[in-house]
Amino acid sequence: MAIETSCDETACAIVQDDKNNPKSIHLISETLATSKDIHESFGGVIPEIAARKQLESIIPVIDQCLSKANITKDHIDMLAVTVGPGLVGSLLIGVEAAKALAFAWNKPLVPVNHLIGHIYANFVDNPRINEIDFPALALVVSGGHTDIVLMRDYTTFDFLGGTLDDAAGEAFDKTARLLDISKYLGGAKLSKLAQTYTPELHGTLPILPRPMFDSKTSDMSFSGLKTAIKRVVASNLYNNVAVAYSFEQAVVDVLQHKVLQAADQYAVKCILLGGGVSANSLLRSRIEAAAGEKNIKTFVPPLYLCTDNAVYIAAAAYYKTKFSSYRLPQLSSIQALPSISINTAV
Ligand code: KG4
Ligand code: ZN
Repeated sequence: MAIETSCDETACAIVQDDKNNPKSIHLISETLATSKDIHESFGGVIPEIAARKQLESIIPVIDQCLSKANITKDHIDMLAVTVGPGLVGSLLIGVEAAKALAFAWNKPLVPVNHLIGHIYANFVDNPRINEIDFPALALVVSGGHTDIVLMRDYTTFDFLGGTLDDAAGEAFDKTARLLDISKYLGGAKLSKLAQTYTPELHGTLPILPRPMFDSKTSDMSFSGLKTAIKRVVASNLYNNVAVAYSFEQAVVDVLQHKVLQAADQYAVKCILLGGGVSANSLLRSRIEAAAGEKNIKTFVPPLYLCTDNAVYIAAAAYYKTKFSSYRLPQLSSIQALPSISINTAV
């Protein structure tokens, strides 16, 4: 059973291993409460409000997850919790709740890096699970992070590169705000609008930069793109749908190019996407098509597992304890780690 409280969600999930296939893992039950609507009115997450809401929801969310699964604590073998990165007040609620349960129920507790967790969304109830082959390349694209990692086996990761400034999701959100589409987490809405573009109705497309496209590394940059959008919007020369379309193409061009370049460099067998922006249909279809041409298999999580939830945190803990020589830490040493990166072992 896993707990996730890194941003504005309070989430719990219970997964179970497959007795016939140790590579496979099934979702048993999941609960999630979010304070997103409150933050929407402020145009950004208010950490204090997020943490207070999490304090209110954490026990009911855990309780409901157990009752949905129709089990009691005695059926739980292991607990897992997101320790970072994220908002410190929010992380503390989840981490302290998980430690208290581990102590009271006498169960092991596995700390999980949220960013690595996103990758394991591809491993839950996946009918193609046996096709996931290593080395694999994972692209984690969320509101706060954009990272490319090489996955050597189920639990060994090498960081290859990532954004040097803003995350791709942050660029989506700020562009959505500039275009008056949404004040908070507007990536999905922006993408929907972009898909309605037709030259007849929405006119000329603005030309936008593809930052760091030509570098041979896996590093990226999205802050310049945000500035370019600001200028384009201020010029009043373009229809909002045309701006949204050009923006999405620019971000996806960069992500697709960087992923395929790294896939070639490391001769990977699979590409795995994860994180909120991996719900983007243009990104999914473009990477699938480009990888397919090179006979590389692509895995994308179901949409409901792209954004934050506890399901992939539980899955991450399962693989970490099943497929590596990982030794459980002392309960007292497990703590909230708000500023860790994807390559921080926890
Ligand atoms: O992984 P996530 O739920 O939270 C973080 O860990 O950051 O990702 C949230 C991000 C937001 O920036 C949101 O706008 C973006 O994912 N997002 C999308 C789409 N759905 C969510 N961006 C582009 N297209 C989408 N369909
Ligand atoms: Zn996330």
